[in-house]
Amino acid sequence: MSYKAVILIGGPQKGTRFRPLSLEQPKPLFPIAGFPTIQHHIEQLCSKVEGLREILLIGFYQPSEIISFVSQAQRDYSVNIRYLQEFTALGTAGGIYHFRDQILFGRPTAVFIINADVCGDLPLDEMVAFRGTKPEASCIVLTTEATREQSVHYGCVVVDADSNEVMHYVEKPTTFVSTNISCGIYLVTVDLFEQLSSAFDKRSQLALHNDGDSMEPIEAIWFEADIFPNMASTGRFFALHTTRWWSQIKTAAAAVYANRHYLRLYHETHPQRLSKQTDDGPTIVGDVYIHPSATVDASAKIGPNVSIGKTVIVGPGVRLKESIVLEGAVLQDHSCVMHSIIGWNSVVGQWARVEGTPIGPNPNMPFAKLENKPLFKPDGRLNPALTILGCNVQIPRETIVLNSIVLPHKELSGNYKNQIIL
Ligand code: GTP
Repeated sequence: MSYKAVILIGGPQKGTRFRPLSLEQPKPLFPIAGFPTIQHHIEQLCSKVEGLREILLIGFYQPSEIISFVSQAQRDYSVNIRYLQEFTALGTAGGIYHFRDQILFGRPTAVFIINADVCGDLPLDEMVAFRGTKPEASCIVLTTEATREQSVHYGCVVVDADSNEVMHYVEKPTTFVSTNISCGIYLVTVDLFEQLSSAFDKRSQLALHNDGDSMEPIEAIWFEADIFPNMASTGRFFALHTTRWWSQIKTAAAAVYANRHYLRLYHETHPQRLSKQTDDGPTIVGDVYIHPSATVDASAKIGPNVSIGKTVIVGPGVRLKESIVLEGAVLQDHSCVMHSIIGWNSVVGQWARVEGTPIGPNPNMPFAKLENKPLFKPDGRLNPALTILGCNVQIPRETIVLNSIVLPHKELSGNYKNQIIL
C-alpha cells in the first residue's frame, strides 16, 4: 500500500478573518504550539500513515513565501514534500484536478486531502483501516459532531447508521440538516478523479453557454459544491466519525484554542517539547512551549497554555498565560499578558497589561465547536475577544490594552479597551 497527501493551503486572499496576523506571513505557516500550522499536519501524516510517499502542498501563494518552509520540512521528515502553485485560486478541488498527473504519479493506493485550516488529533490511521473495510469507496470523509446551532456553518453530512454511507451532503445549509459535520479531511482513490473530470467538463459547458460573468475561472472546482452533493447516495462515498479533538482555524482566537490542544497532545507525541519546572528557571504552570533561543527570566511565571517563539525575551516578574508570543517579541519587566497574541518583534513595556477575554467552548456542551464569532456585534461594538498585537507594535510602560486589535507598526500612547487600533 502506498499513500500520498495533499494539503490545501489556499492563498493570499484567503484567511481574511486571521488578520492582522496573516498580513505578515501565510496563515498556514502561523506557529501554533511553537510550530507552523501545517507542520502539525505533516507530522501526523508521517507518524500515522505507513507507506506515505509524498506530501504536496497546493495553493496560490508565491513560491518565495512557502519555499523555505518546504526546504526545512523536507530536511526534517523522511518523505518527499513539494509545493505546487495554482496559477489562480482554483477552489478546493480545482488544483487537485489540475495537478492530477503529479498526484497520481507512482499509482498511490489512496490520497489524503487535508484543509490547512483545520487542526486536531487526526485519526489518519483509522481512516486507512476504515478504507480497508470499504473497497468500493472513492472517498471517505472524516466527520465530527457539532451542536445544531453550529452545524449550519459547516459541511453537513447525513450518514446511514448501518453502512456509514454518506446519503446527503449540504455545505453550510440555511436550515438544520445534521449535527454530523465534515472535518475537511478526505481519503480518496483514483476513481474520484473521474468525478473531478465530469465536474470540470460541466463547468466548461456552462462557461460556453454563459456570458462569462462568473468571478471564478472555469477551472475552479469545489468539493463542497460540485462533488460531494452529487456523490452522496451513489455507494462510493463513506464517512468515518471521530470524537477526538478537531477544530477549524479561521480566527486568531481559534489559533489560541488550537495552541492549548496541541500543547496537551505533546504529552503523548512530543513530551520533550513541553517546558519542565527547574530550580533555576521560571515558574511553569501547566503546558508551556519555550523555543530554545528565547530568554525567560527566572522570576517570570508562565502558563498554562503558552507558546513562546524564537529569540523572545521575557523579563523579570512577567506574568504570561493562555497566549502565543511570536518571534522577536519582548515582554519587559513585570508586564502581564493574558489571552493574547503578541506579534513578531512587538514590545510590551514595563508594568503594562495586555489582556483579552478567555475563549473556548462551554465545557458543559461536549460537542460545541469553538465559536468563530464575527468581529463586531450587531450594534457595531467589538465582540469580546483576544487582544492581538500585529507585528512590531510598541506598548508603553504602565498602560492597559484590553480586548483590542492593534495593527502592525503602531506605537500606542495610552490605554485602550474594545478597540481596533489602525
Ligand atoms: P469559509 O467559512 O468561507 O472560510 O469556508 P470554508 O471553511 O469551507 O473554507 P474554504 O472553502 O475557503 O477553504 C477550505 C480549505 O481549502 C482551506 O484550507 C483553504 O486554505 C483551502 N482553499 C480554499 N480555496 C482554495 C483554492 O482556491 N486553492 C487551494 N489550493 N486551496 C484553497
